[in-house]
Amino acid sequence: MALRYGDDVILMLEDGSTYLIKLKEDSQLGTHRGNIRHSDLIGKNYGDVVDVDKTRVYTLKPTMVDYIFKMKRKTQIVYPKDSGFVLLMLDIKEGDRVIDAGVGSGAMCGLLARYVGESGKVFAYERREEFMEIAKKNIERWGLMDRVEFKLKDIGEGFDEENIDAFFLDVPDPAPYIESVWKVLKGSGRLAVLCPTTNQVQSVVERMNEVGFIRIEVWENLFRQYKPNPKRLRPFDKMVAHTAYLVFGMKINQEGKGS
Ligand SMILES: C[S@@+](CC[C@H](N)C(=O)[O-])C[C@H]1O[C@@H](n2cnc3c(N)ncnc32)[C@H](O)[C@@H]1O
Repeated sequence: MALRYGDDVILMLEDGSTYLIKLKEDSQLGTHRGNIRHSDLIGKNYGDVVDVDKTRVYTLKPTMVDYIFKMKRKTQIVYPKDSGFVLLMLDIKEGDRVIDAGVGSGAMCGLLARYVGESGKVFAYERREEFMEIAKKNIERWGLMDRVEFKLKDIGEGFDEENIDAFFLDVPDPAPYIESVWKVLKGSGRLAVLCPTTNQVQSVVERMNEVGFIRIEVWENLFRQYKPNPKRLRPFDKMVAHTAYLVFGMKINQEGKGS
């Protein structure tokens, strides 16, 4: 399909630098290789190689990973390294009803919305309005607003839903909320908790055991990226040493001894 005004495009220069733009009339993108007029891209296709001004650009269709790395944010976000694994461990699929708390800038919320499909729903809790507004803008840009119900609410007040398929909990101190998460999950419902520190992992696992969760797992994903040079294949010199710990569990229809 030929590119039109309003379309999102990733422009990649020959040096590998990328820009995410929405094509607009009378607009241009300033880059270190010169200016690129949006009008020069109208009628091109995704995947084209275009010579504009002093540079050559590739017009690529943005992927979810592009959107996540280039999204507006005011909070720490969940990166693809962790979020892809969470989607699988929570078994997110078409039709699922999922709670995301707190929403922050909406990176995980958008991914959940994408995978619950048109018949699913994400109930997105956030206590700070300025973060929720950013999340809404991001989700809108990704065309997923109709799959998300935003709730400006402190989760200490509890949740409005019941029989939830999966729950993603990403707040600074998650342990106190484990019991109310348990109450809204359906039998066999799945929980993922993101914990930046081991102290939180300890208190979350303790609380999950008390409340009655089973299949409790603690994970840390260590990823190392390689320079894609076939003649000198080796890792990049620097790596991301830590993002977060991930704790998973499943609900059964019998409360634990510490509830
Ligand atoms: C690290 S951010 C979440 C990032 C988000 N998962 C993402 O992928 O973009 C944590 C968020 O939890 C929110 N939060 C913290 N405590 C909360 C509470 N008790 N109720 C609702 N939201 C809360 C914060 O305002 C913040 O926006």
